[in-house]
Amino acid sequence: MSIRVALRRLVFGGAAFAAGTALAYIDDPEQLPFDLSNVAQKALQQLDAERAHNVAIWAAVHGLLPIEKRADPPKLRTTIWGKHFSNPIGLAAGFDKDAQALEGLLGLGFGFVEIGSVTPLPQPGNDQPRAFRLPELKAVINRYGFNSQGLDVVRANLIAYRRSQLHRPANQPGPGPGLVGVNLGKNKLSEDAAADYCLGVSKLAPYADYLVINVSSPNTPGLRALQSRKELEKLVKKVKATRDGMPWSAAGPPPLLVKIAPDITDADKSDIAAVALKLGIDGLIVSNTTICRPPAVAEHPEGQQTGGLSGAPLRDMSTEVLRDMYRLTKGKLPIIGVGGVSSGADAYAKIRAGASLVELYTSLVYEGPSLLRRMKKELTALLQRDGFASVHDAIGADHAIPRR
Ligand SMILES: Cc1cc2nc3c(=O)[nH]c(=O)nc-3n(C[C@H](O)[C@H](O)[C@H](O)COP(=O)(O)O)c2cc1C
Repeated sequence: MSIRVALRRLVFGGAAFAAGTALAYIDDPEQLPFDLSNVAQKALQQLDAERAHNVAIWAAVHGLLPIEKRADPPKLRTTIWGKHFSNPIGLAAGFDKDAQALEGLLGLGFGFVEIGSVTPLPQPGNDQPRAFRLPELKAVINRYGFNSQGLDVVRANLIAYRRSQLHRPANQPGPGPGLVGVNLGKNKLSEDAAADYCLGVSKLAPYADYLVINVSSPNTPGLRALQSRKELEKLVKKVKATRDGMPWSAAGPPPLLVKIAPDITDADKSDIAAVALKLGIDGLIVSNTTICRPPAVAEHPEGQQTGGLSGAPLRDMSTEVLRDMYRLTKGKLPIIGVGGVSSGADAYAKIRAGASLVELYTSLVYEGPSLLRRMKKELTALLQRDGFASVHDAIGADHAIPRR
């Protein structure tokens, strides 16, 4: 081929490609900001994990993230605890620990965002570096150790967010206002864990759509021991009494959930289910990060870092714990499924195993904001394929237990 012919082909080919791309954006102009932010996300991966996270939060605070303007597919709407979620996909705890970036993060199209874990007093967490990417495995290991600005700062941020929503135009395009869960932790040096969680409830419950007692972070010494039957029962009784002793409108208090680890024995699972049913816990979150190191992770250069493992290697493990907890609680409790969700199929598998809602964190780090659009499309198609009219109809579909 002569140079002239090659050049001509290059110019015509390039022009056709540019025209095709432009046409695609004319068809869906809202896609461009998502694609651009995906490119930015990839660039952020050149920074160390914590710095990249801080830049992402900064971008969310400053309105630099794309905004989802499409309404969610009606099949994805769901109602749990009398609360309306425009889609069942939420952002898991740990991303916006201090509730700084709610508007930007909900604007991405999440059905809900869980802030925290928040500790009563501000604390710095563990020394840096404390977050490590394992990109080949789509995983992260973190040992942040509850770095938190504390209840007072988070309370002020939640109040500011709630106020901003009062002025939200009713006909604003997009999925809807989105709900906010509040995940509570304890200070590292506190000797009375229950007092810390109760303080969290008394200060933040009025601004929460749901509350979470997080007893499953691997990075706070002794925390996971609170999952044992005796400790959990004592803790939940006190926290519930605090919540129920507060003045509430007719709508009542926010539901109280417990977030558990994936590294628990069958006996632990039965104990947690028994406590949940006996004390009327409103739901479970399954699961936090794992301290296990599957072989592929163990062989990775960063695989032996101390901390909790999240992302793809956690996915099936956390889904199996979720399946067990659904069975043991006889489908009576809403469960939020979290761990390694990065596609509509992953979300659907958790819903069929018993999740009423799902959450993700690590896949957002690798895939960027357009992940949500893809997941919603895939999940809707899977529900359609299997003849489910809504997400609700698919909850626990893998089990013989009749649904709630
Ligand atoms: C960097 C990082 C920080 C986290 N911090 C918290 C936290 O403060 N509280 C909590 O309950 N879970 C925390 N998690 C756990 C996530 O909420 C989630 O349970 C876990 O990462 C599994 O989901 P994923 O595989 O989609 O990331 C954190 C996870 C990561 C990766």
